Amino acid sequence: MDTLVIVTGGSAGLGRALLASAPPGAHRVDVSRSGTDLPDTDHLAADLTDPAGWAAVGERLTALVTRRAWDRITLLHNAGTLEPIGFAGEVDAEAYTRNVLLNSAAGQVLGHRFLAAVRDLDVRRELVLISSGAARSAYPGWSAYGAGKAACDQWVRTVGAEQTHRGGVLVLSVAPGVVATGMQELIRDTDPRDFPQVDRFHDLHTRGQLVEPDVAADALWALLDDPGVATGEVVDLRSR
Ligand SMILES: NC(=O)c1ccc[n+]([C@@H]2O[C@H](COP(=O)([O-])OP(=O)(O)OC[C@H]3O[C@@H](n4cnc5c(N)ncnc54)[C@H](OP(=O)(O)O)[C@@H]3O)[C@@H](O)[C@H]2O)c1
Repeated sequence: MDTLVIVTGGSAGLGRALLASAPPGAHRVDVSRSGTDLPDTDHLAADLTDPAGWAAVGERLTALVTRRAWDRITLLHNAGTLEPIGFAGEVDAEAYTRNVLLNSAAGQVLGHRFLAAVRDLDVRRELVLISSGAARSAYPGWSAYGAGKAACDQWVRTVGAEQTHRGGVLVLSVAPGVVATGMQELIRDTDPRDFPQVDRFHDLHTRGQLVEPDVAADALWALLDDPGVATGEVVDLRSR
C-alpha cells in the first residue's frame, strides 16, 4: 500500500510519535520550523503562525498529494502552542496574535487547502486536527489556546457534515489526553499567577498519569482504522 502521511509539528512530542508510528512503509513528511530527527522522513520547513506562508505550504501539500498514485493520504494537523500562557489583556499582543493564528486559523486554512488537493482522488483520505480538553473546559491563562481548539472542533463538525454530502474524506478532531511532551514541561514551569491551575498538572505528573506520546499516537492510528468512527466526529482518546 502506497501511503502518504503528513504531520504538522512532527519535530517533537506527539507529532514526532505520530510520524514514528505511521503505517509501515508510509512516505512521511514533517511540517515544522525545526525539522525531524526521524530517518526516512522529509521536512517541509514552515512557521505556521505566519499566514503569508500558508499558500506555499498548501502548494507543497498539493504537489505531494499529486506526486504519485497514493492508496492512502493522511494529514494530521498537530502543530499547536500554549504560548503566551497568561491572562488576556496582560500578555504580549504579538505573541497572542501568533497563538490565535496557529491554534485557530492555520488548521482551518490548511484543512481547506488539503481538501481541495485531494478532492478528486478516489483513495482513502483522512484529515485529523489535534484538539484538547481545553476546547470544552475554561483554563484561565489559556484563552486563545482553548478558543482555537474549540473553533477547530466546530470546523471539523461542519466540514464532516459537508463530506457526508460529497467528498468522502474522513475528517476528525482528536483530543489526545495529557501527554508527556515539552508542552507539559512548559505548563509545569508556569507561574500560578499566569496559570492558576498549574498544581493540577504537577499532581498528574507526580502521580505518573501522563500518557506517553507513542501510546497516544498508537491510539490515534487505531482510531483511524475503527469502522465505527464517522467523519465530523470530535473524539477524546481518554473516553475510548
Ligand atoms: N501534550 C499534551 O498534554 C496535549 C494535550 C492536549 C492537546 N495537545 C495538542 O497536541 C499537539 C501536540 O502537542 P505536543 O504536546 O506534542 O507539543 P510540543 O511538544 O510543544 O510540540 C509542538 C509541535 O508543534 C510544532 N510547532 C509549534 N509551533 C509551530 C509553528 N509556529 N509552526 C510550525 N510548527 C510549530 C513544533 O515544531 P517546531 O518547534 O519545530 O516548529 C512541535 O513539533 C498540539 O496541538 C497540542 O495542542 C497536547
